Amino acid sequence: DWKIQDVLDEEIKTIKSMVGTDEHVICALSGGVDSTIAATLVHNVIGDRLHCVFVDNAKLTYDLICIYKEKERVMSTFNSDLHLPVTCIDASEQFLSKLKGVKDPEMKRKIVGKEFIAQTGKRPEYLVQGTLYPDVIESCLPPGSGMTHSHTIKSHHNVDGLPEDMKLKLIEPLKLLFKDESFLKRHPFPGPGLAVRIPSGDVTEGNALEILRQADEIYVQAIRDAGLYDTIWQAFAVLLPVETVGVQGDQRTYGYPVTLRAITSEDGMTADWYYFERKFLADVSNRICNNVRGVNHVCVDITSKPPATVEWE
Ligand code: XMP
Repeated sequence: DWKIQDVLDEEIKTIKSMVGTDEHVICALSGGVDSTIAATLVHNVIGDRLHCVFVDNAKLTYDLICIYKEKERVMSTFNSDLHLPVTCIDASEQFLSKLKGVKDPEMKRKIVGKEFIAQTGKRPEYLVQGTLYPDVIESCLPPGSGMTHSHTIKSHHNVDGLPEDMKLKLIEPLKLLFKDESFLKRHPFPGPGLAVRIPSGDVTEGNALEILRQADEIYVQAIRDAGLYDTIWQAFAVLLPVETVGVQGDQRTYGYPVTLRAITSEDGMTADWYYFERKFLADVSNRICNNVRGVNHVCVDITSKPPATVEWE
């Protein structure tokens, strides 16, 4: 008989025995439900030896800011509603200056990962990760659930992103849990944030990040308004850092193309592209072009995974 409490009790025991009595643990809340829940669980076990930080990193973690509209409300949700002591570090300038001129996708991931830890100013022994692992649950599959074990383990983007001299031991209290869609309905958001959504581009160049944020907000809000948010597994805009020509009024414009990505999936390992109705796409395209200065082409990504990945880099 499979009970969630048994899994959590087992995890609590593991955390207690792993962490000892004077070691410190860090959790970088970069946005998303999983890391928040993981942090809450660990906090219940080790109290103030858990150091949670929300790094305001030039709004790369736009998802979280987008839900709450401003940083103060993110912090109040953590501190007052969840009783999770979180320190907010404003590191926008540092993140942008480290990312300046960087176009290589793996470098971007490494820089974001390293900067997160560096900004906390701590030398912790452990890192809390909220990653869920559908792939390691085989021995705990709820009987009769119909769930099957997939044999490919998802690579650990965030930890792989950390440099060698910063290897931390991992605490993953949710690793035996599936995401129950009725409980955790937010779309996944990658740890490196919008840094990986301007493929092969320097995210500090021009207004690219701001343009991407605005286009993404219009697109995802339209998905919510159409009642499609829960049908779609993940949706986001990608900004392609190439100069494109358009015409608005009688003027020639120079801007960027934005690509709309939406997928359905079970666990992100494989995915199908989502087929929107023409009217929905036409509305989103109009809204983006009319409201986001700097965009004059809107494209739709119609590739599944494989051969594509979910993110563009
Ligand atoms: P891919 O692009 O690998 O994405 O098909 C699969 C899922 O993982 C998310 N993703 C990331 N999450 N750090 C993260 O925390 C990353 O570096 C990263 N890269 C991709 C992606 O958004 C999708 O949900």
